Amino acid sequence: MIKIAVQKSGRLYEDSLKLLKDCGLSVEDGLDTLKAQVRNFDAEVLFLRNSDIPKYLEDGVADIAILGENVLIEKNVDIAVVEKLGFSKCRLSVAVPKGVPFNGPQDLNGKKIATSYPHSLQQYLNKHNVTASIHLISGSVEIAPNIGLADAICDLVSSGNTLFKNGLEEKEILLKSEAVLAANKKSLAEKSVLIEELAFRIRSVLKARKNKYILFNIPNDKVAEASQILPVLKSPTVLPLLEEGWSSMHSVINDEDFWTVLNKLEKCGAQGILVIPIEKMIV
Ligand code: PRP
Repeated sequence: MIKIAVQKSGRLYEDSLKLLKDCGLSVEDGLDTLKAQVRNFDAEVLFLRNSDIPKYLEDGVADIAILGENVLIEKNVDIAVVEKLGFSKCRLSVAVPKGVPFNGPQDLNGKKIATSYPHSLQQYLNKHNVTASIHLISGSVEIAPNIGLADAICDLVSSGNTLFKNGLEEKEILLKSEAVLAANKKSLAEKSVLIEELAFRIRSVLKARKNKYILFNIPNDKVAEASQILPVLKSPTVLPLLEEGWSSMHSVINDEDFWTVLNKLEKCGAQGILVIPIEKMIV
């Protein structure tokens, strides 16, 4: 059996649980319990505090976890990143009150900086040969300059909304982060079958999320041209329509190329274009 750790609350909680469910794992939401048995996969889900997950993972309390890269870097643990998951993207940044001049890391010399990420901040300060005093706060870091607790902050930024609301400006990006699937190294060797099975399902779900299934009708003499437009997996499926001289073409397209492809297909003569989400994708 594998023990999978996820956040018990916080930004990654919903996306992590959704990912596991999309992978076909039947798991309860962990609102009333800190441990849930997966009914149809040899696994147990542990709902843990975000900052505790790296240590539990390193110690083997959990075999595998979904967590932010930023926490892994901060806790400096010896674990393996199995897969980047592409959600919960954010950055760890230094910010100062709006209007305060900032010309680079040297301006932090002798200053007080509030953060929940002392290790990552200290590394950044060392790299730039800056001596500053780090004030450790576990949450609501952005309020620190407003209440006279610090001159600057170092915290996670996603939309930038929290900085804006607190009159702060982002000045330096220390690192970029996203959710990852990480594993205890011993578990990775000893429970490789189950971990690889889960990683395989995750890859299939993530790939499906990035693609769409497209089908449309097109005159037969335009099939070859339309095939050139479609960034297909192998070759598009072409089926005859009952109406003489027309075909139905089916293919898979990348979400990012979607509007460009759609535009070109319309110009090529495609009609009745349908676009359908894909649930799983194994290629
Ligand atoms: C994080 C982070 C910032 C905020 C940034 O806090 O600490 O405060 O998100 O997001 P934004 O740029 O989109 O405004 P979170 O709400 O996750 O809770 P926390 O204070 O427990 O870290």
